Amino acid sequence: LMQPEAAKAVEALFAKAERDNINLTGVSGYRSYDYQVDLFSRNIKANPNANQVSARPGESEHQTGLSIDISSPSVGNSLSQSLGDTKEGKWLVQNAPNFGFIIRFPKGKESITGYQYEPWHIRYVGKEAAKEIASRNITLEEYLGQLPINRMNSIYR
Ligand code: DAL
Ligand code: ZN
Repeated sequence: LMQPEAAKAVEALFAKAERDNINLTGVSGYRSYDYQVDLFSRNIKANPNANQVSARPGESEHQTGLSIDISSPSVGNSLSQSLGDTKEGKWLVQNAPNFGFIIRFPKGKESITGYQYEPWHIRYVGKEAAKEIASRNITLEEYLGQLPINRMNSIYR
């Protein structure tokens, strides 16, 4: 459920995880616009600030087929920020760039990305970009030279 190049890269990432005895789970890859309409409308009912957590329809990276949410049995395969403190979450930070993926919404960068910290959401950008983004500790927005978006403001500024 991803674009072919990204799908191949995910397979390679999971194969490396297995070799390293790291147990990962693919939770959510491609999502259609209609699915995102459904997901976002459920989320916004439960939480008026849902757009810091859940992308509006048309804005989700999952619609590009380049992103996937990854978890681990160590956190019950949940999409939880505690994944970042586990050995699996740390492994992902270290290894994802070698396969062309970045942690798309890092901790401390909420005001730039507009989203909460999501240690589970990786985005395919290719190896060269991924390695540079990771080694410079920047976001995709900064890499692309875009100004910080300010659609989110109250909480994260
Ligand atoms: N969950 C992130 C924000 C997305 O759907 O792009
Ligand atoms: Zn995601």
